[in-house]
Amino acid sequence: MKHQRSDFPEDFLFGCATSSYQIEGHAFGGAGRTQWDDFAATPGNVTRFENGDKACDHYHRYGEDLDLVEQAGFDAYRFSLSWARVLPEGRGPVNQEGLDFYDRLADSLLDRGIRPCATLYHWELPSPLLDLGGWRNRDIAGWFADYTQIIMERIGDRMFSVAPINEPWCVAWLSHFDGHHAPGVRDIRATARAMHHVLLAHGRAIETMRGLGMDNLGGVFNMEWADPADDSAAARAAADRYDAIYNHWFMGGVFKGAYPQAALDGLEPHLPRGWQEDFPTITAPLDWCGINYYTRKLIAPAGNPWPDYREVEGPLPKTFMDWEIYPEGLYNFLTRTAREYTGDLPLYVTENGMASADVLEDGAVEDPARTAYLDAHLDKVRQVIAEGVPLKGYFTWSLLDNYEWALGYEKRFGLVHVDFETLARTPKASYHALAKALTT
Ligand code: NOJ
Repeated sequence: MKHQRSDFPEDFLFGCATSSYQIEGHAFGGAGRTQWDDFAATPGNVTRFENGDKACDHYHRYGEDLDLVEQAGFDAYRFSLSWARVLPEGRGPVNQEGLDFYDRLADSLLDRGIRPCATLYHWELPSPLLDLGGWRNRDIAGWFADYTQIIMERIGDRMFSVAPINEPWCVAWLSHFDGHHAPGVRDIRATARAMHHVLLAHGRAIETMRGLGMDNLGGVFNMEWADPADDSAAARAAADRYDAIYNHWFMGGVFKGAYPQAALDGLEPHLPRGWQEDFPTITAPLDWCGINYYTRKLIAPAGNPWPDYREVEGPLPKTFMDWEIYPEGLYNFLTRTAREYTGDLPLYVTENGMASADVLEDGAVEDPARTAYLDAHLDKVRQVIAEGVPLKGYFTWSLLDNYEWALGYEKRFGLVHVDFETLARTPKASYHALAKALTT
């Protein structure tokens, strides 16, 4: 790895990230059923019908996993809390075992000197709430606020930072328009409602945590750079629509109290009545803004009704996800976010990393492409800091190979290899490279 810790400001945080359903083993510890269990149980949705029942068995092996976080020299660990583990029905009775697990996790992080950075929702909606309409139902903002209150009354005192919702675009668009993620809906009215309610729920959770006296609260947004596939005005307009839906909608809502016109063009007729009146809640002030960044897309018109775009294969080297490697996009987003939305507010890269077809051979995993990917993106991190962007930390995705949602266990994003039969953990070469950079 060409970077080392001393290349970054002294208070700059390095961390790694995971999420509950992807690693814990949802079948353990009395958790309730979630939309991902149901989605995965429906043939055709997930590669090899894989689900998160066992995942990495982090529920039982969290001590070993947190040792790996500590030994790598990370300052912070970003993890998520499973709503259905805490409230198996989504509302009502609490699963004490679930609360106890997160309590232990918080203490175990602090014991190791690692800052706990929690996300309240990373996609596994309790199934009983989906029965009530899930993200289509405005009441979800209240259910989410109640869950926030319950879990944060228990562990909020020990959190370094909290974000309500991971990647609102995925919660809303990917899951209700594209139908690629649970609940696998393809419906524009459901999408518009989810696009709005996800931000309303975010705002209600922030208000709830402020009510508990908490600080260092933020939002985690996934950003994907959109370049027009050619020079035509039609391709530029298609890329703008993609950018509006994917990126500007969420930052615009949260930081400006306004949605971009190019997205409203299609979604406004389907938004819930009185949506503008929710902006005072949606814009509840934040202490930081997190960006998850992986790739860019080349966009062309599709010849369809709105949103009328399609992705075109790009020329750059790709990861095992078939995602182009484009570190410039990280630079573009960090500078654009500070310039257009957040000003002096601290920014974090809350996820960045790549999947590769890693194999364990003679007890080792050689993944030079991952180390190079991290190095290339850390170049951009240094560049924006030098240009005065208030970037305060960088989290890599992910600590462990894990359940990559609809793509199952094949796409390995971890710094640590997981054998999904034996559940043995083997730090990859990239883990050792990063550990060396952070600890020497
Ligand atoms: C973003 C998501 O937060 C995470 O759940 C996912 O595994 C990674 N991207 C990689 O696709």
